[in-house]
Amino acid sequence: MRALEAFAPGKVILLGEHSVVYGEPALAGAIHQGVRARAVPAKRCSLKAPPNVSSSARALLADAFEKAARACGRPAVELSLEGELPVGMGLGSSAAASVACARVLLAAAKKAASPKAVAAVAAKMEEVFHRKASGLDHTTSAEGRLILYRRREGQGAGTVRAVKSPRPLKLLIALAGRSRSTRNAINLVEERVRRWPKRYERLFKQMGLLAVEGARAVEGGDLEALGDLLNVGHGLLSSLGVSSAAIDELVHLLRARGALGAKLTGAGGVGGAVIGLYYEPEPVIASLAREGVRCFGCQLAGPLAL
Ligand code: PMV
Repeated sequence: MRALEAFAPGKVILLGEHSVVYGEPALAGAIHQGVRARAVPAKRCSLKAPPNVSSSARALLADAFEKAARACGRPAVELSLEGELPVGMGLGSSAAASVACARVLLAAAKKAASPKAVAAVAAKMEEVFHRKASGLDHTTSAEGRLILYRRREGQGAGTVRAVKSPRPLKLLIALAGRSRSTRNAINLVEERVRRWPKRYERLFKQMGLLAVEGARAVEGGDLEALGDLLNVGHGLLSSLGVSSAAIDELVHLLRARGALGAKLTGAGGVGGAVIGLYYEPEPVIASLAREGVRCFGCQLAGPLAL
């Protein structure tokens, strides 16, 4: 058997993180940066952990991989992973690793690898990483495009609607503070929901509405409306308690540098990724990078410039 390889993209959530865990819709798209999995023939099905991961992360990865391997009939391959996605910053690194592993395992087991089949195997890994995961991250990675997603309680895969953009949908992605755990941020929100269910249900409903309005703004090519939705979305995430001083500072910096809208993306916490929506982010990326801000660009949807 030849070596098998598969790539899976990371993702950004435009609108609806956290509320998606509680059944509200979310809008998210795949980015160019991701994770590549490679498999070579071996005696038993295993995953070589990437270098520089802590012993606790290594144990979690091994546990997650075991679940995916079992779902694919444990083909006789050894997998390794590499990628350029920042880990633990809200850009879906664990989901991309899960999807890349799922693709290679399914190929090694000579099973069909439709986005649905890939997402089902990747879900086994994401459940280990995030416990109460909505399925948004790995579904976006497996679909590889901009989608409106809704979790279906107790039914495995959620519903997916592709969202098309008539114009280039370009973002600046910047990194604030240090990496953090998605699980902690989900637990923090869960604790508030447990104490004050009615109040947080209201907020989640609002966040879900923003995601649906966001999909409509993208489809109508109304980037100014989308920018406003991102700003409001950030306000609601702050009210859930998942933003931080470092994240807020970066959000305000991007707005001061002309963003149509800016917000945190992903679970949030002490640090994480922030997105800014621009017609043309490239000059802002160049000047912020010169000032030492960790940032890069991506296009989520719409026609690519030649
Ligand atoms: O793990 P992150 O930071 O990419 O974000 C996950 C998004 C959440 O809505 C917070 C959790 C989930 O499972 O949807």
